[in-house]
Formats: sequence, C-alpha cells, structure tokens
Amino acid sequence: MNFSEINDLAIGNCLSESLNGEVYEAVLDGRDVIYRIPPTGSIEGDIYKKYYNRKGMMSLIGFYQGGLVLEKGGKNLGECVNHPEMLITYQQFDEVAGFLDVLHSDGYLHRDIQPGNLVTKHHKFCLIDFGLTRTIESRGDKVDPSHTVLRYASINQLKGINESICDDNYSFALCLAYAFSKKTPWGTLGGAPLISTINMDIFPRDYGLNFRNFLAQLSSDLSYSSAKIPFDVYSILSEM
Ligand SMILES: Nc1ncnc2c1ncn2[C@@H]1O[C@H](COP(=O)(O)OP(=O)(O)OP(=O)(O)O)[C@@H](O)[C@H]1O
Ligand SMILES: [Mg+2]
Repeated sequence: MNFSEINDLAIGNCLSESLNGEVYEAVLDGRDVIYRIPPTGSIEGDIYKKYYNRKGMMSLIGFYQGGLVLEKGGKNLGECVNHPEMLITYQQFDEVAGFLDVLHSDGYLHRDIQPGNLVTKHHKFCLIDFGLTRTIESRGDKVDPSHTVLRYASINQLKGINESICDDNYSFALCLAYAFSKKTPWGTLGGAPLISTINMDIFPRDYGLNFRNFLAQLSSDLSYSSAKIPFDVYSILSEM
C-alpha cells in the first residue's frame, strides 16, 4: 500500500504530549482522525504501513508533515474499565491477541502494552502507540524502562534486562487481568498473583497460542514474582 502525503489537515486538541510522541485530534475532509507525531528514531510509521488494515491494530490513513494520520477509534481500555455502564468481554481482545502473535512472529516487540494503548475499533480492542516498538534483534542488552507505564511493565523491563516476547505477553496479561477484575496491578496484588486470580476458563482455545501458553506458564510459575523486582522499583509500585 502506498501512502501519499496529505496536504490539508485541521489539527485540534492535543491529547498527549510526552517523550513517547505527540497526539492530536484532527479533521481530514470532514472526518475525525488522529494526528500523531512519533518519538524521534522510532519505527512507528513503518509498523503502521506494514500492517495496514490488519485486524487488531489501528489503521494508517496517510502522512502529514512528518506525522501519522490515523483512523480514530473509541475509548481506551482504562476509560472503558472506568465507565459504569460498559461491559467488557473476552471476545473484544481476540483480534489484538492474534495481532500480537503476528507482530512477535515477524520479530517485533511492542514494549508498551498498557490500557492507554488499547483502544476500541468496531467494538473490539486494537493496539496503538508503536513509539517504543523495536525488532527483537536490534534491542540492546540493557533496556530503558523509563518511558513505559511501570504498572504494566514486565519484571525484565523493570529490572532493565533484555526483553522477549514474554514481556509483551506479560503486560498484555496484566491488561486483561485489569479489564476483567478492575483491579489495578500493584494496588493490592502483584503481577503474577493478579493474573492467576482470573478464571482461565473465560479464555477460548484459539485465543492466540503464544499468549495462552505463556499465561498457563506464568500462573504456575511463582518464581516470576514481585520478589525479583529491585527494591526501589518495588516500593514505587507498591505505593501506586
Ligand atoms: N487512533 C486513536 N483512536 C482513538 N484514540 C486514540 C488514538 N490514538 C491515541 N488515542 C488516545 O490518545 C491517548 C494517547 O495516545 P498514544 O498512546 O498514541 O500517545 P502517547 O504519547 O504514547 O501517550 P502515553 O504516553 O499516554 O501512552 C490514548 O490513550 C488514546 O486514548
Ligand atoms: Mg500511549
């Protein structure tokens, strides 16, 4: 798919401005869209181009002055969980679980999976914000976790050691645990115990094989526990 440069975009409110990039509401030819300026050095534009129109991720519309013009979805997972009348079902996550498997088998790690980066699109959740996405080969041995949302970061990310597909899956599992329990990781429960409180029966067999294997391993593997997190990070998380 070739994306031509968009000539005219009306940029509105800023939704987010951080080291992870800038996000604005915008209008393109009368249609509500999102304008995102990725962080310097990121491969976000390439990811949106490569997976254009894939289920489980937001669609790219085009480019405008170095930024990305994206389809506008609905609420993010955090907003959905906090909405009193919104019922969240596991079926809403099947496309994003499948997309994560594709992303991983193609050799990428998202590295920032958290409720703010899962937004609704046609009633299903899809992934946004590829500002920290890296190829598995290109990552250094040392990981800088400072830009990720600590609550949903994996133990490896918190410890600043090398990451793998399991780290994305771990963060995704925490998001699911949050979606179905409404319990925020680290508020009262650590990551792995929180995941194991979720009834595994609610996830169907085809829920993304890698993810299911990982979840099964995680909930029986008590070594993957809060005790392994460096004390300074643990004390921050415990107070959240
Ligand atoms: N395409 C989109 N459709 C709907 N909402 C979006 C879209 N892109 C971003 N948003 C909203 O804007 C918020 C911030 O977007 P995004 O995560 O891309 O930016 P960010 O700079 O990385 O922010 P953060 O540091 O909070 O993750 C999202 O949590 C979501 O609520
Ligand atoms: Mg984000």
